[in-house]
Amino acid sequence: MTTDLLMALDLLASVLTAAAWVGAGVTAAARRPRTAAALFAVALVASLARVWSILALAGAGWWFVQEKITFVLPLLVAASAAATALAGPRLLRAARRADAASRDAVGAPVVVVPLLGAGYAAAAGIVQTFLIGYPADPGTVLLLLAVVAGAVLGTWRAMSARVPGLRSATAATAVAAVLGAALVFLPSAPATAEGSAPEGAATMGAMDMDGMDMDGMDTDGMDTDGMDMGADMGVRPASQDHSASGGPSAGGTPRPVTDLRGPATPPPGGAVRRFELTARMATVTLSSGRKVSAWTFNGQVPGPPLTAEQGDLIEVRLRNADITSGVTLHWHGYDVPSGEDGVPGLTQDAVPPGGEFVYRFVAEQVGTYWYHTHEVSDIGVRMGLYGTLVVAPKGAAPTGLDLTLPVHTLGGVLVTGDRDQPLVKQAAPGTPVRLRLINTDNTPHRFTLAGTPYRLVAVDGTDLNGPGTLGEAGLRLAAGGRYDLAFTMPSSPAVLKIDDRTDSVRLVPEGASPTTTQGASPTADAGAVAAADGQTADWPELDLTRYGAPAPTPYTSGSRFDRDFTLVLDRGLALTNGRPAYAHTVNGLAFPNIPTEVVRDGDLVRLTVVNRGRDTHPWHLHGHRVLVLSRNGHSVTGSPLWLDTFDVRPGEVWEVAFRADNPGLWMNHCHNLSHADLGMMLHLAYQGVTSPFHGAHGG
Ligand code: C2O
Ligand code: CU
Repeated sequence: MTTDLLMALDLLASVLTAAAWVGAGVTAAARRPRTAAALFAVALVASLARVWSILALAGAGWWFVQEKITFVLPLLVAASAAATALAGPRLLRAARRADAASRDAVGAPVVVVPLLGAGYAAAAGIVQTFLIGYPADPGTVLLLLAVVAGAVLGTWRAMSARVPGLRSATAATAVAAVLGAALVFLPSAPATAEGSAPEGAATMGAMDMDGMDMDGMDTDGMDTDGMDMGADMGVRPASQDHSASGGPSAGGTPRPVTDLRGPATPPPGGAVRRFELTARMATVTLSSGRKVSAWTFNGQVPGPPLTAEQGDLIEVRLRNADITSGVTLHWHGYDVPSGEDGVPGLTQDAVPPGGEFVYRFVAEQVGTYWYHTHEVSDIGVRMGLYGTLVVAPKGAAPTGLDLTLPVHTLGGVLVTGDRDQPLVKQAAPGTPVRLRLINTDNTPHRFTLAGTPYRLVAVDGTDLNGPGTLGEAGLRLAAGGRYDLAFTMPSSPAVLKIDDRTDSVRLVPEGASPTTTQGASPTADAGAVAAADGQTADWPELDLTRYGAPAPTPYTSGSRFDRDFTLVLDRGLALTNGRPAYAHTVNGLAFPNIPTEVVRDGDLVRLTVVNRGRDTHPWHLHGHRVLVLSRNGHSVTGSPLWLDTFDVRPGEVWEVAFRADNPGLWMNHCHNLSHADLGMMLHLAYQGVTSPFHGAHGG
């Protein structure tokens, strides 16, 4: 059973458990012994099912059950046992007799209160899991216990005038509530995450030790040796600007991120590629004639395609005409010097209307990338502030048909490039074709290519090793990710589809049906590619971790890691940018309160990303490609996978690694930008690098 399914079953069991206990209590109070006894039986079975689902879920990892094992389960078991012992025999007796006296007996507090109490306890578990999330900490646990105790006492008092020990029970409840609230709301000093040493506490063991505060005030997350706890494990005090600084370097002078810039001249043999991008609002006309008001670079969506050859110096002058919230340029997947990374409040200030910023970096990586604004990026990118960046190997300009295809939802319609209709292209059979798919949306897209065998030759700009031929395969592309498909033009049409619905590209062999290649009318060419127009929805999804051939990698899961960070993704109440929200959380916290991950230049870093929520999170680290070590405990058996965005689906656990070889201050965030906006982002900082910017919003 998948973890995702187990999480769903557990949710179902938790709701059923709470409903059945409360139902038994209410019907008992209504003096209906038969119904109450039946619901009591359901509650018992549901509680047992819940115990099973929690234990089964534990098999997927401690992250999935931390709050359940430490709090939800003990509370449920204790409350159910009490209810069974106190109410059970009386209920059964009354249900058997069903006379007036036994009806009265089941309406007594000694039956009703324990039944309802078990219901409150079960409900508290649901609140813990869904409102507070991961991890459970003493403060919220105390608060919830106080609420349950208060509800039990209140119910009891409402039913009878004399509650033994009411005074002291109320006092104890109040003390627990105050203590819990103090633990939750008292602020403490911010901290950075140092990452556990792998030979020290096991990652899972460390999790329930630390990370006790989830209020968003205390940034002492899991796997951290928080300074405020007085533990000196080599963590140096972070500056005030904690979320935007790697703190002082070990002995060296701090380096501002603004010093980490690209060169002014290209390396020998390289050319300078100059571009000017001006952000402005404009109405763009799609291929169908449909008009969409958008935020554009140079009046177009996508922005101008940027191309270069490896070794060139790319110089982009960004201007902002009228985007009032400001703009920046971030080079997605391109490991530029940190000062060129375009993160407002961290590496630069956002460019205001009338302002400009010049980016310079050497085109070292070959392949398919994209750029986008990083200021209020959820809105900015959605509105159109993005474009493509493709770097060809030195002296090897693309041959044949090479199409760069950014896919985006613009004004509610799915566009490929600037087209909301299929792009129809003629190609001579035998022509080498390369399709560069880029997902610039917030959610994954599924691509299928029909009518020709092909290979998935590169992912996120990096070539795969020994990619095999694919036929009927669904290619799920994470938000922000890129796939390069390559094939030889067949003598019949080939069709690229998005989400099994939208035709994106139709390639027609030269001379096959010339009329269809001229106009873009989808009706005119509908018949031309029938051979490639079959159903694709049932094509199985390609598992990238098993595709291609293995090859040696500079590090493996067996390597010794200098830093080990775990990010548990969930939803919960947290402060994000100072306001309380039902946030997308990392280790129970939301930006900017998630501890900055601090690394040293040269460190080998392992990142474990766990998704215990119901949403997919395309995880994206700036400035580094990560090597996938494993997914759900299974190591990669195909080609090595170097990604900059990996899609962590509900219930999944990804282990990735990277070498910290690009000093700076970097964002590490979910590329569903609406999730990032709701708190799901943090910083990765190299020790000794500081930021003079204080926006700390990170875009
Ligand atoms: Cu493509 Cu921080 O993003
Ligand atoms: Cu997300």
